[in-house]
Amino acid sequence: MRKNIVAGNWKMNKTLQEGTALAKELQAALTGKVINCDVIICSPFIHLASINEIVDGKSVKSGAQNCADKVSGAYTGEVSAAMVASTGAKYVILGHSERRAYYGETNAILKEKVKLALENNLTPIFCIGEVLAEREAGKQNEVVKKQITEGLFDLSAEDFGKIVLAYEPVWAIGTGKTATSAQAQEMHAFIRQTLVAKYGAAVANETSILYGGSCNKDNAKELFSNPDVDGGLIGGASLKVDAFLPIVEAF
Ligand code: 13P
Repeated sequence: MRKNIVAGNWKMNKTLQEGTALAKELQAALTGKVINCDVIICSPFIHLASINEIVDGKSVKSGAQNCADKVSGAYTGEVSAAMVASTGAKYVILGHSERRAYYGETNAILKEKVKLALENNLTPIFCIGEVLAEREAGKQNEVVKKQITEGLFDLSAEDFGKIVLAYEPVWAIGTGKTATSAQAQEMHAFIRQTLVAKYGAAVANETSILYGGSCNKDNAKELFSNPDVDGGLIGGASLKVDAFLPIVEAF
């Protein structure tokens, strides 16, 4: 059966010292504990090597928040998938709505990033989701289907089987306005149906689909109780152990 996953997306928060302290605290809190999900922390690039010295890769795993769409070379300021993998990180968030909105990441660029991530044995956590105007116009399914189709549907079934999806309605990110449990389930079921149509039920049923957007300790249990919600991608509430741990324990 597909994995339950709770992943923290630290975004552009925490100095190196603060980040390593948080990773240590989280690892200590989860060591020896029975947990019913994979726990991943997705830190800024510069934290990765240090964090991979701290986490055990079992109860806590690590990932990046982005990687380049090029292999290597004269791309000042970029960090390649191979570089991310060389730190020991196993995951990479790709296509976060903040990357799409502020850094011009298109589905075509993301397709390249996904390919390079997979070639370097990184598991992409591929983000999709509509903005408020699209939801108000009833276009959320269309938008999400296009993001998945253009970003991922060139992959073979075998490669698609390595992808984790994260549905993050943009209107719910950092706003305190969570999607209702019913809205999340409805969209996740639609996403899974879209995967069934392309890759068949076996692949679709093995794909973890996370929810993201103002997920916190008070709403995680209800969101995660939906049959098609396989965990969360957590922003603000991943920045403190006492806010993050109860979300991990919601499973
Ligand atoms: P918040 O949990 O802060 O709303 O952020 C969600 C998110 O964007 C995770 O990637």
